[in-house]
Amino acid sequence: MADFNLPKKLLLGSATAATQIEGGDKNCNWYQWSLDGKVGNGESSLTGADHYNRFKEDINLLAELNQQCYRMSIEWSRIEPSKGKWSSDGIAHYREELSLLREKGILPLVTLHHFSCPQWFQDKGGWTADTAVEDFISFCEKVVEEFGDIVNEWCTINEPNVFANDTYMDGKYPPGHFGDMKSYFKVSRNMVIAHIKAYKLIHRIRTEKGFSGETAVGFAHHLAYFESSRKGLLASLGRGLITRLFQTVYFKGMVEGQLIAPLGSGYPEGKGCYCDFIGVNYYSRHIITPTLNPGALFGTIDFDPNVPDERKNDLGWEIYPPGLYKVIKKCWDKYKLPIHVTENGLPDADDGKRASFIREHLKEVKHLLDDGVDVRRYYYWSLLDNLEWNDGYGPRFGLIEVDYNTMERHVRPSAEYYAEVCKNHMVKEAIE
Ligand code: GAL
Repeated sequence: MADFNLPKKLLLGSATAATQIEGGDKNCNWYQWSLDGKVGNGESSLTGADHYNRFKEDINLLAELNQQCYRMSIEWSRIEPSKGKWSSDGIAHYREELSLLREKGILPLVTLHHFSCPQWFQDKGGWTADTAVEDFISFCEKVVEEFGDIVNEWCTINEPNVFANDTYMDGKYPPGHFGDMKSYFKVSRNMVIAHIKAYKLIHRIRTEKGFSGETAVGFAHHLAYFESSRKGLLASLGRGLITRLFQTVYFKGMVEGQLIAPLGSGYPEGKGCYCDFIGVNYYSRHIITPTLNPGALFGTIDFDPNVPDERKNDLGWEIYPPGLYKVIKKCWDKYKLPIHVTENGLPDADDGKRASFIREHLKEVKHLLDDGVDVRRYYYWSLLDNLEWNDGYGPRFGLIEVDYNTMERHVRPSAEYYAEVCKNHMVKEAIE
């Protein structure tokens, strides 16, 4: 692979989510989930990477690593720790963090919902409650009024598909239901409606208040590349069904405003285009094998068992860069909307594969750009080692290593490599 250039208009950076790095929040539902022993090795979201206290150090590192954009989330439970009560401390904290990013010339993309919520919201039934959308929109309104002057790029909801699946089908995230398909659909429907309302709200507030900068609102879709294990009608039906349930219903809803079966029908908030960009979180390729077991959403989704270890990350997921091209191209051909690669990364504790992972995936981004696809951002997941949800702190996704005993940060060699890429927009073949 020869060296290649990337255009300057493609901003390069990294991504995080509050619950995974901040630590110290007892009002978030992941705190109770940790107390219930549901996080690997008895670990707790209370630990985090102490980012809440060390955000200045971390933003300095971001700047030293030449990153131009940063995707972060605002923790709902920090802003509204109990229903209807706004926390001035939480608001002041994020104001300081976002202002510092701006001072350093780093463009923030703020996620409003990244898998976690306040415990009070969870206690009301979380995203299955009839009041869920209203509660979330009231939080969004507060946040956009408070920070809309310094944030113009917004990601409403992270991975509604993974969220609905892991909360109500796989039982990995609170409230930990298994095979509860009815709730899976209810959560998905509520998230679609919440996204559309948030889209309209963000545009309205930023316009009314005359905030500067082009408003860009989207959501982050988890798009794995799906392949069938077999040929034939049943296999293609299985793949089609899974693609519909895991990908298409969210595109239809969050981009076009349309509810399709099994989420519902019609246009609950009117027909329109409710994304200024599409956020793509891409990690791997999955093989689908059809099954008639409804608990498995009509098909099993696995990694290819024949992939050699050198092409797997520390969690055993296949490293498959061409999938990034394929999922984005499909999305572009359908919608022609700007693309943000909102997450792409791997757990790699010894840092042996991360630099080449980044290089190979950026090569796919380059192909997309050459083919006319409007890719505008690339956020490596993640800036720091963090809480990998129910898997705990074991998997190491960070460009920056965190020593959880001392909370010291160590810049990994791959982060130095990526810093050069960010600085020059030139991707070198040689990894020193
Ligand atoms: C995504 C999620 C992130 C992170 C990442 C790595 O699904 O949005 O929060 O956990 O996966 O597994």
